[in-house]
Amino acid sequence: MESITWNGEALYLLDQTRLPAEEYWLRYTNYRAVASAIQTMVVRGAPAIGISAAYAMVLAAKEFAGSPNYQSRMEDARAFLAASRPTAVNLFWALDRMNRLVQSGASVSALEEEAAAIHREDEAMNQAMGHYGAAVVPSHARILTHCNAGALATGGYGTALGVVRAAHAMGKVEMVYAGETRPLLQGARLTAYELKKDRIPVTLITDNMAGALMAQGKVDMVVLGCDRMAANGDFANKIGTYSVAVLAKHHGIPFYTALPSSTIDLSISDGSRIPIEEREGGEVSHLFGVQTGPEGVATWNPAFDMTPHELLTGIITEKGVVYPPFRETLARSFSKTEKGC
Ligand code: MRU
Repeated sequence: MESITWNGEALYLLDQTRLPAEEYWLRYTNYRAVASAIQTMVVRGAPAIGISAAYAMVLAAKEFAGSPNYQSRMEDARAFLAASRPTAVNLFWALDRMNRLVQSGASVSALEEEAAAIHREDEAMNQAMGHYGAAVVPSHARILTHCNAGALATGGYGTALGVVRAAHAMGKVEMVYAGETRPLLQGARLTAYELKKDRIPVTLITDNMAGALMAQGKVDMVVLGCDRMAANGDFANKIGTYSVAVLAKHHGIPFYTALPSSTIDLSISDGSRIPIEEREGGEVSHLFGVQTGPEGVATWNPAFDMTPHELLTGIITEKGVVYPPFRETLARSFSKTEKGC
């Protein structure tokens, strides 16, 4: 399953706001429209946002090629795309990677090759996470996940759902419980849809059922995604992740996040510095246009929350599973000096 394709002329995005009712692809030839697709969540999920933004930079380069102020127009495009959503660091990571080439005077085709590489590498990292993550999944596992960290959210295969897919291929998965993920229902609309399509056993629950499910001994492990991880292992992910983490700790259930290195932000020391997106209150007072709260009620709508690293059992990455003390183990595996860059 894929949600992003590029044909050399245009970017095609599977409109995730219409799933699961309709599989509808939208065509983009303009970077401003891609920024709007990111903001309105036609495309969502940290890696998928980064990949789309990289292709959007190619669209900008095609638009501005030959212009006398090419560099400053490309900088405007970068800034415009960077303003689309604040939390997932993959957006800024991908824009920085593209921007380095722009500043070096690279051709449009070199930019296109870089965006395609970002796309390809993401799927490869997910496959590697699947391999390492499946090893920590117990037999007959009943796995709880939250939001959608699947093929739809990435360049393919998925991060947390990549681990589920690999473990399922090994015959280890008895059931995946998908938390529906209010307010925008990524768990219900996307995760349940993806897993059902792949014939992986999935049971949909509302978010407030997770505690009762754990108390009844029906969850062996939690694995979910990440939008940005700080240097100490604190991480932002979809609102509701923190509640699941606290519940898992209380019930002694292993709690993992799966993420590619493009989601790690070593420049941020701890989670308190991760910018948390707040979205418009209508997403809370209404459910897809249907009013569910009284007219004019006050709302609070953070799209993400921050889970402190103390609640994490381990971090599943493309280089292996990282365990505490996370500040040291993350730095050892992912700092630029260690990688020799
Ligand atoms: O608001 P969304 O749908 O973009 O939030 C997505 C998540 O929180 C995912 O868990 C995260 O981006 C990881 S996707 C591999």
